[in-house]
Amino acid sequence: PLQKAVAEAPEGSLAALRQQAKDCRRCDLWKPATQTVFGMGPSDARIVVIGEQPGDQEDLAGKPFIGPAGKLFDRALEEAGVDRAALYITNAVKHFKFEPRGKRRLHKRANAEEQAACRPWLAAEIDRIRPDAIVCLGAMAAQAVFGASFRLMAQRGQWIDLPDGARAMATVHPSYLLRLPDEQARETGYADFVRDLTLMRTLLR
Ligand code: URA
Repeated sequence: PLQKAVAEAPEGSLAALRQQAKDCRRCDLWKPATQTVFGMGPSDARIVVIGEQPGDQEDLAGKPFIGPAGKLFDRALEEAGVDRAALYITNAVKHFKFEPRGKRRLHKRANAEEQAACRPWLAAEIDRIRPDAIVCLGAMAAQAVFGASFRLMAQRGQWIDLPDGARAMATVHPSYLLRLPDEQARETGYADFVRDLTLMRTLLR
C-alpha cells in the first residue's frame, strides 16, 4: 500500500512535507481539528514508528504520542531499552477525529477513506527517511504498511521484509492495553508489548 501511495505523495524534503501537511485538505478531518499532527524525530532515524491517529492532547500540542497512550509507550520503551529520541514517530492518520460530548471530545476511529487519504503523507515520510525498520503500533498502522489482509494477533512481534529492503514489525497499540478491563490481562499484554519493543534494540546499535 505504501509503494502505491508514494506516487501520490508530494515531493520535497521532510521539512517541506511537514509544512505542506499543515494545509492538507485530502479529507475533511482538518475542519474540526486544531492542527495537523505530523511525525516527529530525526530525519535520519533508523526506525520509524507508526501509530494510528492523534488523540485529544496530541491535537492540542501538535505532537504525536504525548497523551496517556504516549506515556505508556514511553514507559515501555524505557523498559525495552530503546531511546525514544532516536525514533521518528508518526501516525497513519494525521488529524484527531472526535465526537463532541459536553466539554469532552471523544476519540473516533478514522474510516478507510480517511486512512487512504492520509497514506501519501505516511508513504512520503518513509520515502524521505529511508529507515532500516518500521514498527507499527496497532492494526491501522500495520494495515497501512502490510495491506488489509494483515492479522495483528497472528503476526505480531515478527520482522517481515518489505520490497524496498527495509523490514517491518507490528505490535499492539498502547491504547489497547489501557482499555483492557482485566488487571491480569493488562499486565500480560504490557509484558508482551515490551518484549516486542526490545526487537528494536539491536537495530539501534
Ligand atoms: N495514539 C496514536 O495512535 N497516536 C498518537 O499520536 C496518540 C495516541
